[in-house]
Amino acid sequence: MESKLKVFITGASSGIGSALAEEYAKQGAIIGLAARRQDKLQQIKSSCESLGAGKVITYDLDVTNEEASIDVAKDFVNLERKGIDVVIANAGVAFSDSLSSGDPKQINQTLAINILGVANTIVPYVPAMKNQKSGSLVIISSIASFTAPPYFGGYAASKVAVRRLADSWRRSLKKYKIDVTTICPGYIKSEMTDVNEFKMPFLMDADVAARKMIRAIENRKKTYILPWQWRPIIALSRLFGHKLSKI
Ligand SMILES: NC(=O)c1ccc[n+]([C@@H]2O[C@H](COP(=O)([O-])OP(=O)(O)OC[C@H]3O[C@@H](n4cnc5c(N)ncnc54)[C@H](OP(=O)(O)O)[C@@H]3O)[C@@H](O)[C@H]2O)c1
Repeated sequence: MESKLKVFITGASSGIGSALAEEYAKQGAIIGLAARRQDKLQQIKSSCESLGAGKVITYDLDVTNEEASIDVAKDFVNLERKGIDVVIANAGVAFSDSLSSGDPKQINQTLAINILGVANTIVPYVPAMKNQKSGSLVIISSIASFTAPPYFGGYAASKVAVRRLADSWRRSLKKYKIDVTTICPGYIKSEMTDVNEFKMPFLMDADVAARKMIRAIENRKKTYILPWQWRPIIALSRLFGHKLSKI
């Protein structure tokens, strides 16, 4: 009998993370859902169970907490059957830099959650994947990693940093047959984008995005930009400089 896919997702309480969880639930996967808002996480758990998930476990986790991230990974690796198939470092925030405040607190929060949070999520799973000689590590970056949007330098910088971490880890872990996929979404409907007052080009529903992301992970893509319309725009912006102020 084929064993059920085991998937761990951070930032699973809303948006892209919950949509990914629900799509994996339809495949009957064993799913670990992590976030801070437990009421929301319980709703996603119920939804995943009714969609056919093999088993769903929730973790109250702040991804900036290194020790707690290690404990969660140990617990999930040992759940049901030993091992782990897919880890998705999705939790993130998009605070503005708040430069004029004179207080670096907000930008530092962005950097901590979006960069340290990714390291805290991914690294604790590497030993298990190395032992089993398989696994997919997935990092949610952004199209903002290709530009320099005003007021969101911390966000863009964090997304560049994690894209580069993934590029390096892919090379480090290739010999253990561990895949590393970086996903760079454009505008996807979620709590993060619901607050935007400007027109968001090519806005995509989270469930549609999640299905495309899962296909990219299954196909072991290295870097996956979606919606597709951003691919030529990013290629041009890299040639002509950072003129795309909204991304
Ligand atoms: N939506 C887009 O257009 C878009 C575009 C490019 C990239 N992205 C990236 O996609 C990822 C998901 O974003 P989203 O659009 O789905 O936004 P969202 O709906 O706001 O979801 C963000 C998730 O991150 C979690 N989170 C935030 N801080 C956390 C922390 N310290 N510890 C643990 N979890 C934390 C939140 O859960 P709790 O608050 O419950 O902890 C929430 O589940 C982010 O990395 C974002 O940068 C999104």
